[in-house]
Amino acid sequence: MQWLSFLTAVTLVLRGVDAKAVFAHFMVSNSVNYTSSDWEDDIHLAQEAHIDAFAMNFAYDQGDEPQIATAFSVAESKGFKLLFSFDYAGNGPWPQDLVIGYINQYKSSSAYFNYQ
Ligand SMILES: *[C@@H]1O[C@H](CO)[C@@H](O)[C@H](O)[C@H]1NC(C)=O
Repeated sequence: MQWLSFLTAVTLVLRGVDAKAVFAHFMVSNSVNYTSSDWEDDIHLAQEAHIDAFAMNFAYDQGDEPQIATAFSVAESKGFKLLFSFDYAGNGPWPQDLVIGYINQYKSSSAYFNYQ
């Protein structure tokens, strides 16, 4: 079983409203060997811990695309949320078109975290 020990929970205080969302910073490269079952386990643990979403942190050109797709598929089925944290330190800056492409591909997913 995978644990969430590598996650750092952060709290986002939404301006002007009495609402908070709790995100866990998820290093996608740690999930290179994940199956759907591993994603289900991590998301289940996160939901039990009242975490609202995983901030999916991943660097350019590190082969994380399959895990992003699996994570969204599982998150959609479990009513969980994800958002992107494009890492510009791990492997240099992301090409703009790839960032836009990821957002366009997943922005309408029921699992994508939207602010308000
Ligand atoms: C993924 O599996 C390979 C082969 O077993 C292993 O060498 C590697 O450390 C694993 N990566 C992670 C992040 O668990």
